[in-house]
Amino acid sequence: MPVCDIKEHSILERFEDINSIRKALKPFWDSKKIIGLVPTMGALHEGHISLLKQAKQECDVVVVTIFVNPTQFNNSGDLDNYPRTIDEDLALLRGENCDIVFIPSVEEVYPKDYENIKVDLSPMDEVMEGVHRPGHFEGVANVVSRFFKIIEPQKAYFGRKDFQQVTVVEETARQLNLPVEIVPVETLRASNGLALSSRNKRLSGDELEKASIIYRTLNYGKELAHQTSPKDALEKMKAYFENNSLELEYLDIVDPNSLESLNQYWVPGTTACIAAFCGEVRLIDNMELVPND
Ligand code: PAF
Repeated sequence: MPVCDIKEHSILERFEDINSIRKALKPFWDSKKIIGLVPTMGALHEGHISLLKQAKQECDVVVVTIFVNPTQFNNSGDLDNYPRTIDEDLALLRGENCDIVFIPSVEEVYPKDYENIKVDLSPMDEVMEGVHRPGHFEGVANVVSRFFKIIEPQKAYFGRKDFQQVTVVEETARQLNLPVEIVPVETLRASNGLALSSRNKRLSGDELEKASIIYRTLNYGKELAHQTSPKDALEKMKAYFENNSLELEYLDIVDPNSLESLNQYWVPGTTACIAAFCGEVRLIDNMELVPND
């Protein structure tokens, strides 16, 4: 297939096996075109579309993967219940002029002789989201590095809303020496600051308003940066958050590379991360409190 076909016509090419997608990508590798990867588990929403849009702007060809990765689920119920909306997903991708979609089977991604990658993610996979999801980030690191090796993208796009995931993926690529730039894409927000998420659909109008306390608390943290220590700022943020009906699961101020809690000193890229329940719905968010220079 000539290299220009995909770019000019933007017909969505669909592949399910590794040999065929690698054959289609070869002309792009050979002509040093920039390949962008957007890994997803399907059930696409506006967050995924913003990754795709940015990738389309910055790359010559964009590959979206749709793969519900079993190794990152802690319980089989969650895996079975994960929404699978392939027809809607394909329609959305076509509408956004996505070039290539890769929808492999579990056997294709994890053949019998598959060996887990050797990366040490400790302590970053043991804190925050990792506390209740042992093995989750190891599963993410494995599937993402598998796609990096199959697709060989120069750039890979991840939503910054999953800040811990971005950090884990960056660390994985670093330890495995994979030549891919990880591009975190800014979180989309509602007018009251609430981070957009497919889970917001489960919130009532009143809850949607109340949930904005998450954003307000993070912003308050930004105001406090450098005025006091991170430890003191965290206490103040927790006190500020307490006056509302959401239930806090964790709030932390962390080093953006190691994800270790900061107590005494602010570092470039210091980030506050939060998870809270609004009724039954668990929401996560984060904000960079100190610019990363
Ligand atoms: O964020 C997700 O949807 C998944 O964790 C990812 C990055 C596609 C890996 O399965």
